[in-house]
Amino acid sequence: MVAKSMEDLVSLCKRRGFIFQTNDIYGGIKGLYDYGPMGVELKNNLKQAWWKSMIYERDDVEGLDASILTSPEVLKHSGHEDTFSDPLVDCKSCKSRWRADQLDNKKCPNCNSKDLTDPRPFNLMFKTSIGPVDDGSSFAYLRPETAQQIFTNFKNILTSTNKTIPFGIAQIGKAFRNEITPRNFIFRVREFEQMELEFFVKPGDDEKWHKYWVDLRYNWWIDQGIDKKNIDLLEVDKSELSHYSKATVDIMYSFPHGKEELEGIANRTDFDLGSHTKNQEELNISSKVMKNDKSTTKLAINNLEDKSWYIPYVIEPSAGVDRGVLAILNEAYKEEILDKGNTRIVLSLKPCLSPIKAAIIPLKKNNDDLVSKAKEIKNTLQKLGLGRVVLENSGNIGKSYRRHDEVGTPLCITVDFETLENLTMTVRDRDTMKQKRLGPKELINYYEEYFS
Ligand code: GAP
Repeated sequence: MVAKSMEDLVSLCKRRGFIFQTNDIYGGIKGLYDYGPMGVELKNNLKQAWWKSMIYERDDVEGLDASILTSPEVLKHSGHEDTFSDPLVDCKSCKSRWRADQLDNKKCPNCNSKDLTDPRPFNLMFKTSIGPVDDGSSFAYLRPETAQQIFTNFKNILTSTNKTIPFGIAQIGKAFRNEITPRNFIFRVREFEQMELEFFVKPGDDEKWHKYWVDLRYNWWIDQGIDKKNIDLLEVDKSELSHYSKATVDIMYSFPHGKEELEGIANRTDFDLGSHTKNQEELNISSKVMKNDKSTTKLAINNLEDKSWYIPYVIEPSAGVDRGVLAILNEAYKEEILDKGNTRIVLSLKPCLSPIKAAIIPLKKNNDDLVSKAKEIKNTLQKLGLGRVVLENSGNIGKSYRRHDEVGTPLCITVDFETLENLTMTVRDRDTMKQKRLGPKELINYYEEYFS
């Protein structure tokens, strides 16, 4: 059973330390969230899975971690200064502000008035000043997507790694958008993370590679535990494409609030490198780009056969980490009715994504022998390097099981008096709730196999 509502997820996330409203002791800030002890592990595991599949398991992609503060010159030439906006309307009755394209029947959601201003573009980028003088003469933007710094580093990475086309540059990091109406928990926020790949290909090979990346990314989400019935591909209508895109396919997920975009895979053509390169007039750029007389670098490839220069096309799979976390939580959340009529909430996460891999629980909290044996087992498993292992010294086995079911811990290991006699311990499986007794060597084998 998938989560009944967004409220179920929000409540679990707060109760068990996944996600909190930012600055909530001062009333919070809309559209900003903090990841707590369980959330940061889940999010890191998701990012790690993406990084592994993009970089470690391939030979044609390199990584990057670029700065967040971005020169206005970059975001001018990328088109963001002119076009990265949403239509804003004011309600003349109650003075609230809304995104025009999200209103039902053109009515104010706050007071139902239809007396609204005409829509006007509202740029979504955050600005900040650079240096000690704040007179507006020196400022930077907080990047609205991680992609642009990949394009500006194209030549650096090409020459330092000796890569040839086709190849990609991948980056995970924060992006910032001053959303007019952030909503639906971590689905639409003002500060979020993206996992983006810019994959550079020969013009003419772009459509083949676009299809390749759509298939790969769809299957990757299924590997992370998303059920096929909750995920779809949507070919974005030509009239709704971003200014840089020739074709975009969105991976749509059935979130608790409705079916919406989890990731977009765009064919960005030669727009980006063509916009940021010097010597534009010599490069036969097919996209409509702004004249660039500031760039110092030619972002092109030399064709070895005829020695001509060309600008590669770009295929971009761009996924939201926070939307990924929300989708994964929604998939994993289950409420089960047990034999005695009690309800069990369990997060059936894929073991590699679980925040905690195993909890070691001494039967009694105040028994030094049991606690020190449990610590020894925790340290042994922790050293295997497969993720976080915790000592759960609550003295209440039932409560510990409940807590670890709710945070998705696959294995709970109980240390009791028999353990002190013959070293065996009880291992309980999160999903089946079945228990078995294992000795120390068997435990290590079982544990390694479970998470491999
Ligand atoms: N570089 C292309 C790009 O940024 P996008 O469709 O605007 O394209 C890519 O964003 C992904 O980033 C989206 O599919 C979504 O998962 C995530 N995303 C975008 N805006 C977001 C927001 N306000 N809050 C959370 N995630 C967001």
